[in-house]
Amino acid sequence: MPNNTRQAGIVGIGSAVPDKILTNADLEKLVDTTDEWIKTRSGICERRIGTDQTAASDLATEAARAALASAGMGAEALDLIIVATVTGDSPIPSTASLVQHRIGSPRTPAFDLSAGCSGFVYALSVARGLVASGLHTNILVVGVDMLSRVTNWQDRTTCVLFGDGAGAAIVSPVGEGEGILSFCLGSDGSRGDLLRIRAGGSRLPASAQTVQDGLHSIEMSGREVFKFAVRIMGDAAVEALEKCGLTPADVDLFIPHQANIRIIEAAARRLELPDEKVFINVQKYGNTSAGSIPLAMDEAYRSGLVKKGDLVVLVGFGAGLTWAAAALRWAM
Ligand code: ACO
Repeated sequence: MPNNTRQAGIVGIGSAVPDKILTNADLEKLVDTTDEWIKTRSGICERRIGTDQTAASDLATEAARAALASAGMGAEALDLIIVATVTGDSPIPSTASLVQHRIGSPRTPAFDLSAGCSGFVYALSVARGLVASGLHTNILVVGVDMLSRVTNWQDRTTCVLFGDGAGAAIVSPVGEGEGILSFCLGSDGSRGDLLRIRAGGSRLPASAQTVQDGLHSIEMSGREVFKFAVRIMGDAAVEALEKCGLTPADVDLFIPHQANIRIIEAAARRLELPDEKVFINVQKYGNTSAGSIPLAMDEAYRSGLVKKGDLVVLVGFGAGLTWAAAALRWAM
């Protein structure tokens, strides 16, 4: 029987983004917007967009291979694969199963998880529990989204915000006092209509009419989501820290969901964190949904901004509405 005594942590990370860059100047040609408006209101300068041939499993597979290489591990060592996404290749099969096949991890169990932009941290919490319990040992956790595929490119209030990207982590047993310390997860389904895609599921299956009515792309009440995000980012981070007996003053690096620079800055102010402790790459990628946090985490690590023993806090929010924060003692 599992003995529930193991500490779990991230032992490898990687990420992937498409090559194609879509700049604010490009968007000025598509909708009634300006580079100045997008930068001031969101902090975004450019984002990556997949070609017609790219699907979520392509980015997920590339990020997974990078994470395995960073862990010095072969795909055959994995005993579970979780892919957090809301834009998988297709409803069936799961994107996780496609990744399992493509990385060559024979017969490894694999499933998708849906929690919007909070998905990666949700998946990390599942992985942490399964490794800690002894049920699994090496789990690949991927966050990937291609929101470009569900964006209404005529809607200036949303199309300027999103991009495509993926990040991956290997969660395995680590030493005492290291690794993933605590989480704060939540959801408020009463506010689900603030951020939604109306058609394409069992409530309103795809039809010629739903396509004609434009019901297959993201609709968002930006101002309402903004207010929610500003409050929840700080609250969730503080709660995750409290659960492991720490405070914002202990944090070495804060890696928030990269949705909007003003939301990130508000959360950092709430936590009283100086600029150098807040990782930001929203200017380069926009909001990559479930890909955002692991992509940021990978960049922070590769830039030398996080080292073994550092206290890292991840926090995200998204469709659901959902939120998720994690406190980690960096183990790589
Ligand atoms: N270019 C120019 N003007 C614009 C644009 C644009 N791209 N978009 C909106 N505007 C206009 C609006 O129409 C409005 O005009 P009005 O005053 O005449 O009505 C004005 O700009 C201000 O609009 P607001 O919505 O009040 O602008 P705000 O400062 O709130 O910024 C934004 C909008 C960037 C969407 C912000 O609300 C936000 O970031 N919200 C959070 C969104 C988010 O993070 N969502 C992701 C959730 S995660 C997931 O799961 C995908």
